[in-house]
Order: sequence, then C-alpha cells, then structure tokens
Amino acid sequence: MKKRIFLASPNMSKEGYEQKYVKEAFDTNWVAPLGENVNKFEEEIANYVGIKHAAALTSGTAAIHLALKAANVKKEEIVFVSDLTFSATVNPIIYENATPVFIDSEKDTWNMDPKALEKAFEKYPNPKAVIVVHLYGTPAKIDEIKEICDKHGVTLIEDAAESLGATYKGKQTGTFGKYGIYSFNGNKIITTSGGGMLVSDDEERIAKVRFWSTQAREKARHYEHKEIGYNYRMSNIVAGIGRGQLKVLDERIGQKAEIYNNYKEAFKDIPDIEMEPIPENSKPNHWLSVITLKENSKVKPLDIMIALEKENIESRPVWKPMHMQPVFKDYDFIKVEEEPVSTELFERGVCLPSDTNMTKEDQEVVINIIKNLWK
Ligand SMILES: Cc1ncc(COP(=O)(O)O)c(C=O)c1O
Repeated sequence: MKKRIFLASPNMSKEGYEQKYVKEAFDTNWVAPLGENVNKFEEEIANYVGIKHAAALTSGTAAIHLALKAANVKKEEIVFVSDLTFSATVNPIIYENATPVFIDSEKDTWNMDPKALEKAFEKYPNPKAVIVVHLYGTPAKIDEIKEICDKHGVTLIEDAAESLGATYKGKQTGTFGKYGIYSFNGNKIITTSGGGMLVSDDEERIAKVRFWSTQAREKARHYEHKEIGYNYRMSNIVAGIGRGQLKVLDERIGQKAEIYNNYKEAFKDIPDIEMEPIPENSKPNHWLSVITLKENSKVKPLDIMIALEKENIESRPVWKPMHMQPVFKDYDFIKVEEEPVSTELFERGVCLPSDTNMTKEDQEVVINIIKNLWK
C-alpha cells in the first residue's frame, strides 16, 4: 500500500515543545483539568489573537455551546447561522432547544452573505444571536456582518474553529464578535488532539463560562449547585500540547500558504479549475486548499476524489450545506440568489490534501493525478 497522503494531520513541532510542557505537567502531577498549562494556554492564545480573555475547553463544539449560553440564548429563540459549515456549528443551538435559521454563502468569500443576513432580519427581526463561520480558514466579511448585528443589537459569535491565525484588515478572526471560538481538533492547523477555546473581552462572561465548564460548582465547602453545569474544561495535559503547538502556528500558516500557492500555480492552465478565492482585505490561514470545477467541466469532483483515493490520497467534498441535511430539514434557509451558493459550492468543490506533513514531492503526485484527468 502506498504511503497515505492526508487532508490535514497533526504536526508536532520538531523542537518537541509540546512534550516539554506535557512532561512538566507529569513532573508536577498536574494531570487534571486545571493547572499551569491551562492558565498559560489561555493567556497565550488571548495574547496571540489580541483579546482580553480566553477559556480553554474540551472542544470547539463545547465552546460554541457555552458561547450560546453566555449570550443567554433560550428555548425557541432564533439564531442565524452560516449554512455552509460543519454540523458542529449548529448542534449546540439544538442542545439549547433554540431555532437555527440558515444563511446562504456569497461567492467571493464562500462565507455568510451579508445581503442574505439583512434579508433574514427582515423576516425574523429579533434573533438572539448570529453565528458566522470563517470556512476553511478564509475570513468572512466580518466588519459588514458585525455592523449589521450592531445595528440590530444582536450578539455576534464567530466560529473560527478552522481559521486560527487568519486576519481580516489585520485583525484576527474570532476577535470581532462578542465571542469567538477556536478548535484544536486533530485535523486543525494546530491541534491538542482535541480541544477548544472561547474568547471574549468580557471578563465576567468568560469567568461564567469557566464556572459552567466545571459543573457549575458554587463557592461553598460542600457541593452546592444553583445551575446546570458541564464537564467541558480542558485538561492540563492537552493544554501543554496546545502551548507547544502555538509556537509553530505562524510556521504552519506559512506552510499552508505555500501548499495553496503550489496548487494555484499548477492549475493555472486548466480553466475548469478555480481555487477558493482570497477575498480583499483578508489573510487566510489556508487550513484547507479547496478548488471548484466549472459547471461544464468534463471532469467532476467525484472523478478527482476517486482518482486520488486509488493512490491512497485523502480528499473530501466541500461541507454539505446545513439546509440540505436531513436532521435540519425543518429549519428555514435564507438566500438571495436563485440557486443557493452553498449548494453550488458543495456540488462543485473538492478539498485537496493540505497536510503540512506532505512533502513537495507528495504534492506533485497529487497535482499530476489531477492534471492527468484533463489529458
Ligand atoms: C466550522 C467548525 N465548527 C466547529 C467545529 C467543532 O470543533 P471541535 O471538533 O473541536 O468540537 C469544527 C471542527 O471540528 C469546525 O470545522
């Protein structure tokens, strides 16, 4: 069997920073969901993205869940959410028995279309929150979206699970809204094996999130509970991995950009292939390099995926939009184009191997397999 080429796999620092922090945790016996690594990882992420406070949690999904609770989203209240995303963005809305309304993408960023968002406000004037996703590490038009949310007095939550380190007009994604979340799942640009972070400038809300994430224990000698809590706090071991990984985040972004540029250069003579656009004012982290094929292309996304799989190379379709998911069929979907943009991206897109462990030669193999389909 040929060596597997992955979409995105964990890539620990060659210096071994992660193991140093994990060893410290073992040496001091802080093998627990609290300790120096947890506190420092929060501080270091907050400093990196330029925000005041951060709460380290077990996953990005847990972070979205607690962001919704922090925003006081209650049963049956409406939450506007990006249609083109992973279901993890939406599931926490359902955990809180609130009602998602899906907002279509726009062509230039693939993210939430500000025009569709405006239209959603016409139909539902009083949503409780908006969750916008920065898909594949490419920033949404976050200042326009924030302006719309501010105008309507609605809390903005940024799902920056895929976009840690990406900036819009020089400011980090995840720091525009009232709350931002990041994921350190195994496939993300930096990973802790699993983990997430909720960030905000609001000290009181972040303290509350830490309280909920540790079973909502009141200050008392005995175990006293006035609210429902969760076991969502990040472990000190996991946080140690995160601290080490954060040291190589900029290096990883550089490697991901190189992967994207190699594909772009290689496919420039195949008019059927379009790279995911880099929008104006944005510096993506290029978590995944994604292409779309023109409608009349003789090669279809499935042809590419099958050809790669034959050589033990992983690729994926673009996320299947939420409005097309059987589990969310009862919820509304707002679009401005006749044909939903999200559907079109799903039907025409392919996520290509974007692994920072991939060598230049590995990428050449991927490129040649794809190019050969046009011969
Ligand atoms: C857009 C998006 N939101 C949320 C999540 C959830 O993060 P986690 O896997 O850490 O729960 C992910 C990734 O897994 C994601 O890609």
